[in-house]
Amino acid sequence: MRAAAFTELIGPDGVSVIERESPEPDRGEATVDVDACSINHHDLWILNGASAMVDPTDLPFVSGLDVVGTVREVGDDVTAVAPGDRVVLCPNETCGHCRFCREGPENLCASYSLYHGGLAETARVEASRLIPLPDDVDATTAAALPTAYLTAYHMLRRAELEPGDLLFVPGATGGVGVAAVQLADVLGVRSIGTSSSASKLETVAELGADHTIQGTDPDDLRSAVESIGAPDAVLNHLGGEYTDLGMGVMRRGGRMIVCGRTAGPTSEIDIADLFRGHKRIVGSTMGTQADLERLVDLVAVGDLSPRIDRTFPLDATDEAFRTMAERDTVGKLVVMPGE
Ligand SMILES: NC(=O)c1ccc[n+]([C@@H]2O[C@H](COP(=O)([O-])OP(=O)(O)OC[C@H]3O[C@@H](n4cnc5c(N)ncnc54)[C@H](OP(=O)(O)O)[C@@H]3O)[C@@H](O)[C@H]2O)c1
Ligand SMILES: [Zn+2]
Repeated sequence: MRAAAFTELIGPDGVSVIERESPEPDRGEATVDVDACSINHHDLWILNGASAMVDPTDLPFVSGLDVVGTVREVGDDVTAVAPGDRVVLCPNETCGHCRFCREGPENLCASYSLYHGGLAETARVEASRLIPLPDDVDATTAAALPTAYLTAYHMLRRAELEPGDLLFVPGATGGVGVAAVQLADVLGVRSIGTSSSASKLETVAELGADHTIQGTDPDDLRSAVESIGAPDAVLNHLGGEYTDLGMGVMRRGGRMIVCGRTAGPTSEIDIADLFRGHKRIVGSTMGTQADLERLVDLVAVGDLSPRIDRTFPLDATDEAFRTMAERDTVGKLVVMPGE
């Protein structure tokens, strides 16, 4: 089978299509013929050599978390899925028995990890992590859900928002950002989204953002947000100087939920404003399999239509990563190994 592998961790030029032996399922596993696999900034961190998750001396590495396809074969003791089933994978890898797994939510697992391997014609996965796909949910749409929408959904749950509340999403045009705006809309939560690009913001407004602000300078963004109102929560996937910005504009008692650091791995904040304003900062990673099942339901009933910017054949996976690195996208980029 063919796989789009990272053969060098040097950015998009390090992606090559390679031949690999087709995987066989072990006990408790299934193999899935992959129809669609969306890419995430997480894969780009790895490809840029900026992730500790991959050993640069152990290449090629096949990334890709967001697997959607058809079950080809199942191993012993698998009853939940059968060959021919259309499925989406929850990329959570948990031990199932540590204190945090027992207490839940499962993404708190002490040895939490992520599945990689979807940028290939066939993927070998844990069968218990497969969620059946209703017939009317197409593969491309479903492939948007497992990382970006799951992360945004879990963050919104942790933000404890209510209908009519105001959410601030710095960087509202990528995977997590668009998901946050769309899911806020589903919940009846108003949102403010930002981007460096005015044209991308037009699309974000069509997708449900109530207010959009073009710009990247935190001081400019601060006054623009203040003229709209004080957000009840901030969904922060950028880190860097956007953390202090978000904390500063948030209302008293507001919640900042953080999942990323695209704009910088460290942030300075005003400690006095944090405690005087009774504000909260909450770290969040991915979500639960139950969250992902809920997202599949939302798509199936027509309440959520994930935004797919473009699809790419497996051969053009390097191009997909180039598009992401150049920030030339609104929403998700999806690789289609089955085409
Ligand atoms: N902890 C978790 O579980 C988890 C899960 C998913 C993602 N993440 C993290 O969350 C972040 C977003 O992931 P994603 O897949 O949604 O990425 P993405 O699609 O590449 O995000 C693009 C967005 O980020 C903005 N952006 C990119 N570089 C920027 C910079 N240097 N300064 C300011 N804004 C910038 C873009 O703004 P423009 O419109 O201006 O281009 C766009 O809105 C990543 O850091 C990722 O690792 C974490
Ligand atoms: Zn565990």
